[in-house]
Amino acid sequence: MYRAPRGTSDILPEEQAYWRYIEQKVANICQLCGYERIDPPTFEDTGLFTRGIGQGTDIVEKEMYTFTDKGGNKITLRPEGTAPVCRAYLEHGLHNLPQPVKLYYIISTFRYERPQAGRYRQHYQFGCEAIGDDDPALDAEVIDIAWQFFLSLNLRHLSLQLNSIGCKQCRPGYLRALKDHYANHREELCADCKIRLNRNPLRLLDCKRSSCQQIVNSAPRSTDYLCPQCDIHFKRLKGYLKLLEIPFTVNHRLVRGLDYYTRTVFEIQPRAAGAQGSLCGGGRYDELIEELGGKPTPAIGFAIGIERIILNLKKRKVFIPPLPRPQVFIAHIGDEARDEAIKLASRLRQAGTGIIMATGNKSLKAQLRQANNLGVRYAVIIGEEEVKSGTVSFRDMTTAQQRTVTRGELAGLLK
Ligand code: HAM
Repeated sequence: MYRAPRGTSDILPEEQAYWRYIEQKVANICQLCGYERIDPPTFEDTGLFTRGIGQGTDIVEKEMYTFTDKGGNKITLRPEGTAPVCRAYLEHGLHNLPQPVKLYYIISTFRYERPQAGRYRQHYQFGCEAIGDDDPALDAEVIDIAWQFFLSLNLRHLSLQLNSIGCKQCRPGYLRALKDHYANHREELCADCKIRLNRNPLRLLDCKRSSCQQIVNSAPRSTDYLCPQCDIHFKRLKGYLKLLEIPFTVNHRLVRGLDYYTRTVFEIQPRAAGAQGSLCGGGRYDELIEELGGKPTPAIGFAIGIERIILNLKKRKVFIPPLPRPQVFIAHIGDEARDEAIKLASRLRQAGTGIIMATGNKSLKAQLRQANNLGVRYAVIIGEEEVKSGTVSFRDMTTAQQRTVTRGELAGLLK
């Protein structure tokens, strides 16, 4: 028997209410904030990600699903949405539109990770990207969207972690200080951090090994090395978040796992211990568009893992409205009645009434049991008598009361 590949899952009908509910909340908040939907392709040229996300990152080094297609092109299943959206922005001349261009997406993403609760090899993301403006008010808007989105889902008890990691002017100074600090502790570092020290020093701050914690905690902080412009940008952002009454914690260790970030980085996490990591991650990427061949274009965005939202909705027992289902079941007895039932079901559906029709040759009792199991409100029964008289029996499944009505009356009743 085949099974879904490890780290992937089927979204069964019983789960669909969560997905539709979330999609509706996404569309709603994005429309309110002027973000328009974009759907990039599932795969892109590999180079887009190696350049965009960065060579030293876990995603590019270990997690990408990359293959050569039959035309000899190197292709990667998208591990994230930001680089594809920036590629689309450049390819379709969106830089000629009034800036910032505000886009959102709901996409599947692929990362070869070790699967566990909340971590999959295919997952879905809701993301927003605002491209073409460096105003810290835009950072605040983007964070506010994520925050309000969670509130609209009744997900509270969240913590917003914030940091600024500077720009290409001030980051080198900070990295020098960080490396100097770590060089003094080289012997005590875990094997991964020894590699990070040379390849991707910012990621040193992300190490979870207990042996490295003291070194991380005493490490220099990026916010102490910001140039005046980055410093003002960060101060203004914090001011706007206070204005919006969004509580935040400046987390000097927050650096994010993708290389394109500049200045603002943030994550939103459940406050409860043991929760499966970040719900939302994002930040500024003021140099990415230029890296991909465009003019210098500041931008900011975030992405939220939809499976993680659902895990949290379930954990917090948040009520999700069920999806609408047909409330009328048509039962029939005999060949002529079946013909009538087929016609009637089609006509009622055309008029907008949801119908489930009995199939097969079950007894009336078995058909009504099926109707009961499906939880429909009404059953319409057509037997020999009803065929002859052009009527139907109309049964209220809750009270088991039944009466005979004409076909014309039935349509009116169901409306
Ligand atoms: P990211 O932090 O890699 O950022 O992913 C965003 C969110 O996707 C995470 O916070 C998490 O909820 C979810 N996620 C990530 N990996 C997995 C996984 N293996 N299984 C389940 N959920 C996962 C980005 O992807 C950036 N593109 C975000 C961004 C947009 N930055 C600027 N604009």
